[in-house]
Amino acid sequence: MCGIVAYAGPRPAAEVLIDGLKRLEYRGYDSAGIAVVVEGGPVSCVKSAGKVNALERLLRENTPELMEAAGCGIAHTRWATHGEPSDVNAHPHSDEKGKFYIVHNGIIDNYQTLRKRLAEQGCVFRSSTDSEVIAHLIARFYQGDLPRAVAAAVRQLSGTYGIAVVSPLHPGMIVAARKGSPLVIGLGEKENIAASDLAAILPSTRNVMYLNDGDLAVMTADSVEVRNFENMPIERETTRVEWSADAAEKGNYPHFMLKEIFEQPETVENAIRGRIDHEMKSALLSGLNLTPRELAEIGRIVIAGCGSSMHAGLVGEYFFEDLAGIPTEVEQAAEFRYRNPIIEPRTLVIPISQSGETADTIAAVREATAKGALVAALCNVVGSTVAREAGRGVYLHAGPEISVASTKAFTSQVTVLLLLALLFGRNRRMDRTDGARLIAEIEALPDMIRKVLEQVPEIERIAKRYAHCNDFFFIGRGPLYPAALEGALKLKEISYIHAEGYHAAELKHGPIALLDPAHPVVALANNIPGRDKMLGNIQECRARKAPVIALVTEGDAEAEALAGDVIRIPECSRYAAALPTVAALQLLAYYIAAERGCEIDQPRNLAKSVTVE
Ligand code: M6R
Repeated sequence: MCGIVAYAGPRPAAEVLIDGLKRLEYRGYDSAGIAVVVEGGPVSCVKSAGKVNALERLLRENTPELMEAAGCGIAHTRWATHGEPSDVNAHPHSDEKGKFYIVHNGIIDNYQTLRKRLAEQGCVFRSSTDSEVIAHLIARFYQGDLPRAVAAAVRQLSGTYGIAVVSPLHPGMIVAARKGSPLVIGLGEKENIAASDLAAILPSTRNVMYLNDGDLAVMTADSVEVRNFENMPIERETTRVEWSADAAEKGNYPHFMLKEIFEQPETVENAIRGRIDHEMKSALLSGLNLTPRELAEIGRIVIAGCGSSMHAGLVGEYFFEDLAGIPTEVEQAAEFRYRNPIIEPRTLVIPISQSGETADTIAAVREATAKGALVAALCNVVGSTVAREAGRGVYLHAGPEISVASTKAFTSQVTVLLLLALLFGRNRRMDRTDGARLIAEIEALPDMIRKVLEQVPEIERIAKRYAHCNDFFFIGRGPLYPAALEGALKLKEISYIHAEGYHAAELKHGPIALLDPAHPVVALANNIPGRDKMLGNIQECRARKAPVIALVTEGDAEAEALAGDVIRIPECSRYAAALPTVAALQLLAYYIAAERGCEIDQPRNLAKSVTVE
């Protein structure tokens, strides 16, 4: 939540910062601001409630000279936690004298204590944010050395933060520090950029340095020095990023979400590429770094994640139990962390996270590690906190996912879980014939999704027909039960329609009371085990006059005849079924939201990565 970007170099800082904010806007978009230090001049700080476009308009109309001025600067796009979205609560924040400007991503847990103490010492606070204390603390500790003052200030903080600081007393210098919120530094030609994530950096450079918790970076146009909070120098390695800046552009699509839905045949292919061992009829997942013996010793799997990542985990639970016979549980990551989970020596914990920066998932990794579990993460963002702290795992290779609604990350997560189940299964009870059969299914996944994407005209037509409805049910069985949860989540988050995902068997235990002609039911009735029972459930819904949109296997005339509207899913086994089915549900949600004129890529109240609890 919240995106920060900081620039030191010869280009007009405001232009670079605004471009960076636009690329980070999916992290939060209720207000934005920048502060630019021009050598010899005062700090220009401009903030505005609303999106980055509003800030840009303000800058171009009121201070066009600032857009051209060379200098260094910091910028922020906000997802409000403390204090409503407003000009005054927007970042950057400064001390009263305007000597120290900060941007902050995270939450300062002890801000009230600090604020009270600072107010008693005469500090005047302007905003209701937790972040403003940081600027005042730096001012209190400053004795001519900015990095030392920042280090002293952050030592007072508890909570999470990624911060960047500028001061007119040190033109050309940016000090950044991190604990619990991501920060990465792009190392360019005579320029350096720090940001919450790669999206803001890739247009300038692919050479990056990830900061760890407890790192403080002193950045100018020509240098980056990393120290700890005690001012001792630290070495951090430089890595080259594979993603290009184009991957984070919308291209000709009206929304990132639609682009990302259409990328899925390719992203699923990327998740599979090089990971099939045709000779052994197994999977090659070198990032796991486990010997066959270690694999065979795994006695239990616990998957932890949030939102769509947790839903992917629920699909994976079926794979692991069914194909490998390993008892598996899925925990909401926050629940995992706080319920004192039982971790035995042979437990494998699999945190799943697209961003690798979700606060609760990071905490789950730490809890699992502290309890001695083997931890192997499934992440999309290379070098993210979850990936690094887990130390082993499998990357999704889905490319940047910008739309707040997760789409391609979900299908890649399920694909990788299926590869893991193949590996675990072959390591245990699965024979070569079954291994070969599963490989064929995995390799067919991209084409299955392609076939679903060809049905856009039909799905769009159905979406238009139902877009006026205010309540939806999604029902499924087996691995399509989590697919129903995912379909409901997609619809509610981008269209603001109330949607609930249920196990189809659960309908009769209460929710059926709600069914009437105004409650469409999306029934996942693919021809996999459970299909016959699902047809019965469809009949029950129709008997209550609820309209039914059924997802059925191509050619299943009996299922088609029962439903009012039909989306056809290619014939596949229960292991593959969730992927093409969810792709269809993503399209349904997308076109319903489009019909309702919603802000699809940036839904209200949401942000792409939930870096606070
Ligand atoms: O980055 P992560 O996968 O850890 O994010 C988890 C959830 O915040 C995320 O899946 C969220 O639910 C999406 N908005 C769903 O579309």
